[in-house]
Amino acid sequence: AGSLSVGELADKLNKESSEIIKKLMNLGVMATINETLEAETIELIATDYGVAVEQEEVVDELDIDNYVEQDDPAKLQERPPVVTIMGHVDHGKTTLLDSIRHTKVTSGEAGGITQHIGAYQVEENNKLITFLDTPGHAAFTTMRARGAEVTDITILVVAADDGVMPQTREAINHAKAAEVPIIVAVNKMDKEGANPDRVMQELMEFQLVPESYGGDTIFVNLSAINGEGIDELLEMILLVAEVEDFKANPDKRARGSVVEAELDKGRGPVATLLVQNGTLHVGEPIVVGNAFGRIRAMVDDLGRQVKSAGPSKPVEIIGLNDVPQAGDPFVVFEEEKKARQIADARKSRAKDAERAQTSKINLDDLFSQI
Ligand code: GTP
Ligand code: MG
Repeated sequence: AGSLSVGELADKLNKESSEIIKKLMNLGVMATINETLEAETIELIATDYGVAVEQEEVVDELDIDNYVEQDDPAKLQERPPVVTIMGHVDHGKTTLLDSIRHTKVTSGEAGGITQHIGAYQVEENNKLITFLDTPGHAAFTTMRARGAEVTDITILVVAADDGVMPQTREAINHAKAAEVPIIVAVNKMDKEGANPDRVMQELMEFQLVPESYGGDTIFVNLSAINGEGIDELLEMILLVAEVEDFKANPDKRARGSVVEAELDKGRGPVATLLVQNGTLHVGEPIVVGNAFGRIRAMVDDLGRQVKSAGPSKPVEIIGLNDVPQAGDPFVVFEEEKKARQIADARKSRAKDAERAQTSKINLDDLFSQI
């Protein structure tokens, strides 16, 4: 079944519309004869009459993943891990991100002004690590809710003087639901009252068991303030990355996700994109969420203009005709015309959905007032 109105469904089932409407009411669905029903509702009613419903696979031609180039397994190469930091309020997430960035980014580099683009890369033992520095939970959950699975590894920050707290638990649940490996960073080790053993004990309840207790969760004791343990944390990230063997094909058109986006007064829509596969180039036609554009310029996390960006690289781009949302997917198209057409169709579909939603709410309001 695709979509059917109440009347059409009644015809198909050889029943009176009024009977179907009554059945719908029993299910808590208020519908008129011309109302279009959702596939699930159709199935419910039909099954009730002993009629089997065949669901046809609907190919959504506006799904931009249809336009992603196939991966050639022979061309896959190692890519940097993408890391998100999560943990309870005040346990030191921001301080840790800053500390990693400042100890690892040499300010003497060309252009060297570190720029906030919502993500950055650091180098450890000649290997890159990408950190998302948008506020942990928000980034992780909103992006996941929009279907963007960008995180490879989660750092769970737990303050050694405070232990496991509500948002620590929440973070663990998110990471587990996403099946993302967790590294525990026991922070604030410089503080009096720091008790890393207690943190370990508390986390065992969540099956986060350190190697010293026979488990396989990596724990790193550190201080985001004085820098102790940061190098070890980065090494552990690389170790997990090696085991997980993250790969991508740099030799194809790029696909990835929006990390953050905004409207800049002078530059227009500005979006930080994380390339998850392929390589992104200046000048390419791109669909980002429901927006379209040709990439006019790209800037990396150090404020340098770049011409291209490979897998796991975050870049800020300009040239879009609209502001996308965090978690939106992006795909580079071969043809500008096609890209524009898909983006425009996606935009009008989103508008229709929004309008339908609004009128539904108004109708509900009306009913609730009766
Ligand atoms: P929210 O963003 O509010 O959830 O907090 P956060 O997890 O980002 O914590 P933040 O980095 O803002 O740190 C909270 C407080 O703890 C600040 O006053 C930091 O200076 C302090 N802090 C962070 N890390 C350390 C540490 O390793 N040692 C000590 N002594 N203080 C720390
Ligand atoms: Mg913070």
